[in-house]
Amino acid sequence: MTTPNGTTGNTPTSTTGTSTTSNTSTSTGTTGTTGTTAAAAVAGTPRLSVQGLQKIYDTKKGEVPVIADLTFDVQAGEVVCIVGPSGIGKTTLLKCLTGLQSITAGVALIDGKPIEGPPEEMALVFQEYTRSLMPWLTVTKNVRLPLKHLRLSQAEREERISSALQAVGLAGAEQKYPWQLSGGMQQRVAIARAIAYRPEVLVMDEPFASVDAQTRFELEDLCLQIRDQFGMTIVIVTHDIDEAVYLSDRVVVLGERPARVTRILDIDFDSPRDQITTRSLPGFAELRTEVFELIRKAG
Ligand SMILES: Nc1ncnc2c1ncn2[C@@H]1O[C@H](COP(=O)(O)OP(=O)(O)OP(=O)(O)O)[C@@H](O)[C@H]1O
Ligand SMILES: [Mg+2]
Repeated sequence: MTTPNGTTGNTPTSTTGTSTTSNTSTSTGTTGTTGTTAAAAVAGTPRLSVQGLQKIYDTKKGEVPVIADLTFDVQAGEVVCIVGPSGIGKTTLLKCLTGLQSITAGVALIDGKPIEGPPEEMALVFQEYTRSLMPWLTVTKNVRLPLKHLRLSQAEREERISSALQAVGLAGAEQKYPWQLSGGMQQRVAIARAIAYRPEVLVMDEPFASVDAQTRFELEDLCLQIRDQFGMTIVIVTHDIDEAVYLSDRVVVLGERPARVTRILDIDFDSPRDQITTRSLPGFAELRTEVFELIRKAG
């Protein structure tokens, strides 16, 4: 996958990943590859599969068991949100899924293949957005970084950069440096980098936590739009229960310590979703309450 610095390989930084189709950019941050790769999914095989995943951190003070046993699948083109109390192991799970952390037992698969390092077809937007951008590069150059690994014409590369920045509301900030931007703007640059990369699988860790409510709604809808447009599979960790219900095809609730899957809820609201009408549905309130109660019990 693609790291935030746009480098490829196993660098545990934040950025976007790449898709498997034709190109080779890897990163764990915020980018992606072309949407065409979704078609490459192996028929009948989940895009992502987590089977009996266990994670124990080995520290100087001894073993820290964080994840006891997680099993769930994510189908190609699905949006799946992962929720659970703070410290339950959500970021740890994403790091295992994106090959940035080793797995103690069990397995994580992408298109049926074990994930043993950052997969090229993935992009990750990290929770710590301040660490995901290169401070010495302008906004445009940060977004361009992972695209260098893709075989794109210069025109297409520049078009992807400008449309991604436009989509996250950063048109006009192209020549600014990250340190000249607010936290929310920096996070939007990280998201733009992921969008421009167009990975097959976009993994985001609390991506909208630092943006204002209006921008958050816009970015949520942007996620659904790029999923529809490029056939991306999207996995998002969020603390916002309404956001999880609004965005998801399924919500995976984590509980207990070390973590297990407490419940997987199917969310079958019609598509396209709408911030006002979908959130006003009676079923929306019921699901929100159900998720809230599950998290409260888990906490
Ligand atoms: N590298 C590490 N070494 C040892 N323990 C770690 C490491 N990274 C995380 N942990 C521990 O694992 C547990 C889960 O952390 P993690 O960051 O995955 O939780 P989280 O669910 O993402 O929390 P939050 O919602 O606050 O972001 C915590 O107790 C944390 O201290
Ligand atoms: Mg976290």
